[in-house]
Amino acid sequence: MTDQVTVLGLGPMGSALARALLDAGHPTTVWNRTPAKAESLASLGASVAPTAADAIDAAPLIVACLRDTTAVRTVLEPSMDRLAGKTVVNLTSTLPRQARDDARWLARTGSRHVDGAILTPTPTIGTAHALVLYAGDEAAYRSHQPVLAALGPGRFVGTEPGAASSLDTALLDLFWSSVGGLIHALALASAEGITPRDVAALAPLMLQVLPDMAARFAERVEAGHHPGDRSTITSAAANLDHVIELAAQHGLDQGALTALRDAARQAIAAGRGDDGLSHLVEVVATPGT
Ligand SMILES: NC(=O)c1ccc[n+]([C@@H]2O[C@H](COP(=O)([O-])OP(=O)(O)OC[C@H]3O[C@@H](n4cnc5c(N)ncnc54)[C@H](OP(=O)(O)O)[C@@H]3O)[C@@H](O)[C@H]2O)c1
Repeated sequence: MTDQVTVLGLGPMGSALARALLDAGHPTTVWNRTPAKAESLASLGASVAPTAADAIDAAPLIVACLRDTTAVRTVLEPSMDRLAGKTVVNLTSTLPRQARDDARWLARTGSRHVDGAILTPTPTIGTAHALVLYAGDEAAYRSHQPVLAALGPGRFVGTEPGAASSLDTALLDLFWSSVGGLIHALALASAEGITPRDVAALAPLMLQVLPDMAARFAERVEAGHHPGDRSTITSAAANLDHVIELAAQHGLDQGALTALRDAARQAIAAGRGDDGLSHLVEVVATPGT
């Protein structure tokens, strides 16, 4: 198997991918809709293709890293008849259903499809600090893994084409909910006349419980057993009421907090108030019950 590779899309992430491939010594062809973005990569040894079709012809492994699924289709569709026998590794962020649609669509072209989700930012690419999830055609992934390894550590998470995207999206749910919590906490502190610096100084105390909590919740959810040995849902609901009340006093949004408090109240009404917080995963996972 040749280690020739093509990168379609040279935004910040596509450029980082191309640089890592070049650094690892892989012959790399690049293409971007706006050609100027290829110039710095040409000086690093990349072959710059004048069209996407030429880029696709240049290698058996096509790495796509574009804005979204629509951009991927816009770029690949005119070259459908050139894709047979190729492997398309789509590192563009997708929804799980889009990854499944891509898999069906690419199967019709006679190409092999691997959907990837990049979990780490551009500076990590090509280092041991990167992490890329892959899903889909496992044989295609394994055969190109020696080249893909140049991007940094990778993890194959399943042959279901949406698997990488599903896991990525769940982790993004955690990330954005946490960012939202940070923003809301700073706003609440500011309304109370507390400096952002004072919040930041103690924030790690709160945040450091989360990694252990994630592991414990995962174990308890898988076992279906939620002991209230550390804290109970009833206690959490009372605590959430305090935060909600103070937010309301200052006219701040209470949406995310109220959603969690309401899940706790639902569990209490169902007689599960003495359970541990991990039981709320089951409550949130089955809305309307
Ligand atoms: N940046 C990160 O840290 C990071 C981390 C994880 C995942 N990702 C994912 O990686 C993907 C690429 O991200 P990015 O940071 O490189 O920047 P981006 O702004 O999301 O994507 C820019 C690229 O998409 C191309 N593009 C957009 N619309 C197009 C169209 N209709 N036809 C052809 N090309 C089109 C741009 O071409 P032009 O240059 O011509 O505009 C450029 O190559 C995204 O899906 C993003 O979610 C990024």
